[in-house]
Amino acid sequence: MKFFLDTANVDEIRQALDWGLCDGVTTNPSLVAKEGRKMEDAVKEICDLVGPDRPVSAEVIAVEHDAMIEEALERAAWADNVVVKIPLIPDGVKAIKTCTGMGIPINATLIFSTGQALLAAKAGAAYVSPFVGRQDDIGYDGMEGVEQIAQMLRMYDTLNSEIILASARTVAHVIRGTQCGAHICTLGFDTLQQLFKHPLTDIGLEKFLSDYRKLEEKLGA
Ligand code: E4P
Repeated sequence: MKFFLDTANVDEIRQALDWGLCDGVTTNPSLVAKEGRKMEDAVKEICDLVGPDRPVSAEVIAVEHDAMIEEALERAAWADNVVVKIPLIPDGVKAIKTCTGMGIPINATLIFSTGQALLAAKAGAAYVSPFVGRQDDIGYDGMEGVEQIAQMLRMYDTLNSEIILASARTVAHVIRGTQCGAHICTLGFDTLQQLFKHPLTDIGLEKFLSDYRKLEEKLGA
């Protein structure tokens, strides 16, 4: 499973790259707004930082087909590794098809059902992004949808979208994603940090180090 970082914060991306845990980046308008920067500036800096082999998703703001295409062309020109994010609305599905035909890779976003993922995949989206945490927030099991989408894509050679497990908030989301074969998980920095943590690791390390320190004292090292 590849890890994308779900952020527009360059310090977080730098840290994840340093850990060797960043295979790409996804942004959205809210994440860019949080950084208080123009989307173009933020995305260009991120693309430069991660290098040409890591995709960076930049979302359109428009909600009508022609305007979406205009914005998609604009974003695709920011860097070679830009993937354009398009929301799963009727004009969005049409725009996914148009952009795919023009060779612009698309990440279909705001997917909350298997049917929506099917529409995006049929339109040729390079990535489909089912949102998990937001479904859990309203009492659904978001991962059920990801499991269904993974199964659906496996059934058809003609549907070539990769799944980006999005809105991942817990370690359990990530692990269930690996079990159903989600290709990518996009993680907020907090969720990435959660993956490192286990209380027994901290307790065990403290014990190993203190035992060894005692030995060194005893041997007069
Ligand atoms: C995905 O591309 C979205 O940016 C993201 O995963 C949304 O996550 P959230 O529900 O934590 O805002």
